[in-house]
Amino acid sequence: MAVLKILRMGNPVLARRAEEIMDISAPEVVRLIADMKDTLHGEGGSGLAAPQVGAGLRLVVFRVPGRHRTSTSAVQGDLRVLVNPVIEPLGEEMESGWEACLSVPGLVGEVWRYRRVKCHSYDEKGAFHSQEAVGFEARILQHECDHLDGVLYPHHIRDMHKLIYSSELHHQGASL
Ligand code: NI
Repeated sequence: MAVLKILRMGNPVLARRAEEIMDISAPEVVRLIADMKDTLHGEGGSGLAAPQVGAGLRLVVFRVPGRHRTSTSAVQGDLRVLVNPVIEPLGEEMESGWEACLSVPGLVGEVWRYRRVKCHSYDEKGAFHSQEAVGFEARILQHECDHLDGVLYPHHIRDMHKLIYSSELHHQGASL
């Protein structure tokens, strides 16, 4: 159990495609999942992908904050683990929203994401799940799975006036 160091934008590990996990029960994978949970609790973000702690594996730990929970996400418990997740958009509808990232500290940006997605993944026990998500939960899933392909949220920003310091977010009439 350990809180891991978070890599920041510019570290090459964050720009690489991560590899599929072949053995979910391997001791190093089990330890990585436990450490990523500790790290997310310690840092207070919504999600963490393995490349952010220097591990080039397709692994995500995330939680949906209480005010954003839907009837489906509420029953999932606090922290969820996605192993080898694949995201599929459901429909064409997109919406913009403010995002932050532990690898881009101090900044927030307005990013367009699919409003509805389906996520196929294994959990930490090796069970396969296909789940639909909407709104903020769908946004977290897209943000975190982007990390597994070397993509950070600033890559999606259409209007660079909307990449700002989080301390200035109130000028936009928004909050995170
Ligand atoms: Ni991130």
